[in-house]
Amino acid sequence: MNPIYLSRRKLITAATGLAVTGTNFLSAETSAEPDPLGKELIFRTNDPRNGEPALSRLVQSWITPVKDFYVRSHAPNPEIDAGKYLLKVEGLVAKPLTLDLSALKRFKRHKVVATLTCAGNRRTEFNSEAKVGGVQWEAGAIGNAEWSGFALSDVLKKAGLQDQAKHVWFEGLDKIQRKETTIPFGGSIPLEKVMQVADKPEALLADQMNGQTLPADHGYPLRAVVPGYIGARSVKWLGKIIVSDRPSPNHYLANAYKIVKSTSPIDLAEAGPIYRYPINGAIATPEAMASVSHGLLDVTGYVLPTGRPDTQAQRIEISSDNGLSWQAAQTFGKTSEYCWQLWKARIPVSTSTTFLTLRAFDSSGGFMPRRVPWNAKGYLQNSWYRLPIKVS
Ligand code: MTE
Repeated sequence: MNPIYLSRRKLITAATGLAVTGTNFLSAETSAEPDPLGKELIFRTNDPRNGEPALSRLVQSWITPVKDFYVRSHAPNPEIDAGKYLLKVEGLVAKPLTLDLSALKRFKRHKVVATLTCAGNRRTEFNSEAKVGGVQWEAGAIGNAEWSGFALSDVLKKAGLQDQAKHVWFEGLDKIQRKETTIPFGGSIPLEKVMQVADKPEALLADQMNGQTLPADHGYPLRAVVPGYIGARSVKWLGKIIVSDRPSPNHYLANAYKIVKSTSPIDLAEAGPIYRYPINGAIATPEAMASVSHGLLDVTGYVLPTGRPDTQAQRIEISSDNGLSWQAAQTFGKTSEYCWQLWKARIPVSTSTTFLTLRAFDSSGGFMPRRVPWNAKGYLQNSWYRLPIKVS
């Protein structure tokens, strides 16, 4: 059952009396029915499907089970007959390809564990300054999965790249209603990212998630997975790959997923697309506004280091006195490139503690700042994570 969900920001308001405007108080769509696709998520919208797990569920395992993995879709899941499915590869290639699933399965299979996170994760925390548009995510629009599939670099090598090739466009098979027309979800990534030589592909065409056939919500039968980049670059229900000398003109690369103060044409024209995500993290347990006894309190959460190659979380710290002093958390679960790091801490709290605060640093110089400037679409909120609690 989806519980009626109080936004964390609203709870902070309740706890502190801080003025907060435009929060998503009771805005989640609630239902007593089990989800037909087996998700155990708090649905922010049901059509299209946009849901995130309760944070206490999220940190129970390093690999996020499919039922707990957030879904972010701009349109209903397209119905795709795998028997008729074809992936087109065209543009600045020597030989355009049309691949069915059995042709794809002749490429070498790779398994990559990578965290996917929405650029809008923690978006609601911007609302205290001014309401931001978009799905009203708390801190659960993130999950870590084992993706299995084929290296995009292998597919492009087979097609042969022309000299001017610089960007790889992805186009989904979904149909998103925008103004008078419908468009597919799409975007692009730099060719350098795709062709990086490493032990594991920097861009995967995945047909499996956590050892199962890719679920409909996550892009069945094939999706891109681009470790280190915001989730929007991992296009689901992939229909077409176009190699180009320029970034994709698709709305979701050219005009959305940008850090802008307003969505005016000049702001959008001046801002570049977001690719790599910055370090981020959250406290997952206890719950916001939990009543706890003074003394030592067990706290858990996640930190996702910056999406740069070979970057690890280095210092994860918790404060129970609003940043005056900090205590190091211990990591648990695995540590792996492009994956979140789970952590736990036991920290002293007293009756004067009203918040717990998380901050973290990583090995590429990334850190969670005290505050992040407001942006109109509410992207990349990675400021210190504050969790209100009641201590008696
Ligand atoms: N791909 C298509 N075709 N359509 C979409 O709406 N959403 C993107 C990306 N790929 C999207 C898409 C966004 S914004 C995110 S954060 C991730 O998919 C979410 O992936 P998930 O639903 O598998 O968690």
